[in-house]
Amino acid sequence: MSAASTSELPKYPFARPEKSVDPPAELKKLRQQCPVSRIQLFDGTPGWIVTRHKEDRYRREGYPEIHPGAKKEGIRPTFVHMDDEEHATHRAMTEPFFTKSASTALKPQIQSIVDSLLNKIKQKGCKDGPVDLVAELATPLNPKVLLLTIFKVSEKDANDLLSSNASLGGTSGTATESGPSDVHEFITKLVDSRIEKPANPEDDLISNIVVKQYQKGKFDRDGMINLLYMVLVAGNTAIMSSVALGVLTLLQHPEQLDELKKNPDLAENVVEEVLRYHTPSALNSRRVAREDTTLGGQEIKAGTGIIGSVRSANRDEREYPTPDNFDIHRKIDQNKNLAFGYGPHNCQGQWLSRFELQAVFATLFQKLPNLKLAVKPEELEYTPPTQNVGVTKLPVWF
Ligand code: HEM
Repeated sequence: MSAASTSELPKYPFARPEKSVDPPAELKKLRQQCPVSRIQLFDGTPGWIVTRHKEDRYRREGYPEIHPGAKKEGIRPTFVHMDDEEHATHRAMTEPFFTKSASTALKPQIQSIVDSLLNKIKQKGCKDGPVDLVAELATPLNPKVLLLTIFKVSEKDANDLLSSNASLGGTSGTATESGPSDVHEFITKLVDSRIEKPANPEDDLISNIVVKQYQKGKFDRDGMINLLYMVLVAGNTAIMSSVALGVLTLLQHPEQLDELKKNPDLAENVVEEVLRYHTPSALNSRRVAREDTTLGGQEIKAGTGIIGSVRSANRDEREYPTPDNFDIHRKIDQNKNLAFGYGPHNCQGQWLSRFELQAVFATLFQKLPNLKLAVKPEELEYTPPTQNVGVTKLPVWF
């Protein structure tokens, strides 16, 4: 590749087409022409983007940031930003609550939360106009599941937090990075109350960390608050987008939607395909080269940032024939679905996410079979083109 100066390199993140959920056109071009390519980040830092490749040789320390907010001074890292043993030790504190089997055990509670959100929507009806599925279903879903089943707070406390207009969106960041103070205050109070009086430590995540880490002097109060804050916000935006974009895409593919209505067991496949097709948390898989390395014929120096474009890899025609078609019958190996990243930093909440989304897609069209969009897709408000794909509202009639 030519030795372009940094200022001539394409700026990342690339922009999606206006008013569309399609991936940026540059990804396809790079995938076909130059799958390991140079880019520059928001602050002019040069880096690489890999649009077709699975990695195992990159580390996190000093990893490239994609927007200025993440570069504030004094941010205390969570395991999202750690490497190797330190990463494994910190990740292990929350891991038992997010394994496949722990998430499977939560399925009945997840279903009942989905049922109650949908019953509320049904009860409200459309007499006052269309219902916004983002506000009424996609946004509260994940925080509600986490607060009730893993943090084990009372339904009242969970509802109070959710109705306080607290912004619970996040990008696997830290309290300081993405934090409205009411959520931070909520977590702080919760941690302090469990420090004072832990519940059964096997039962809830906070008591578990208090008893097994804090009381043994392995972890301090601020670290705990920061970690729990990260867990509470990390996946909310991605779940919100998966629900909203999944509903939108099914409504745009009525024959496939009819199949799902007739056979809700298809929800598991639907979820994998929605995640592949939209890859709603596409900007998170970032690494730094551990050592000088050659990848796709390009020489990458140790210490250089690398964006692993999971959004592009999920549209890789070598892995998925006709990748731009939405097809709920596509065979997708769950372990290969890069929507949740890969390697030691892969998404810790992936099984919980799958089961939440499966419950939504299996139930929504059973309870509201006549659901339809209240506006044209081009009239929806989309997230800014250089951010993760999403819609801010999804008004529907039913
Ligand atoms: C549809 C929903 C979700 C998607 C698409 C998603 C996607 C991702 C992606 C792409 C990463 C980065 C992986 C990498 O760098 O290779 C990630 C990391 C992470 N996610 Fe998720 N996520 C979702 C939901 C959740 C939920 C619900 C939680 C927690 C309750 C969560 C917790 C985390 C954590 C803790 C990490 C950092 C893991 C580490 O660095 O070791 N995610 N997620």
